[in-house]
Amino acid sequence: MLKPANARLAGLYETSCKACHATPGTGAPLVHDRVAWDPRWKQGEAVLLDHAVQGYKAMPAAGQCVACAPSDFQGLIRFMAGREDPA
Ligand code: HEC
Repeated sequence: MLKPANARLAGLYETSCKACHATPGTGAPLVHDRVAWDPRWKQGEAVLLDHAVQGYKAMPAAGQCVACAPSDFQGLIRFMAGREDPA
């Protein structure tokens, strides 16, 4: 099963983003689906971060993650978009 290597991010992912981003039909770009993420990634990380925090169309503000700190979103987005650092 796909989850972030970092334990904190894995926990946050499991309890928030995953509900939509690993469920086909929700309209959310699916985890590690490069075809879905590529055009979004091209907007730049600043835009993606802003959309994650502020909300964007059917994407709820902060991804319904009350425990997520601002610094967590970058790691979660990179993971879901298949751009996480290998380390
Ligand atoms: C309730 C369902 C739901 C949850 C929970 C959720 N998302 Fe989303 N997310 C969506 C949907 C739907 C979209 C697609 C919005 C669109 O483009 O219409 C989306 C899109 C995105 C995008 C792309 C925005 C863009 O500019 O294209 C990012 C980044 C994102 N989500 C991050 C997250 C993160 C990080 C979490 C967990 C903290 C999360 N989401 C949790 C439903 C969800």
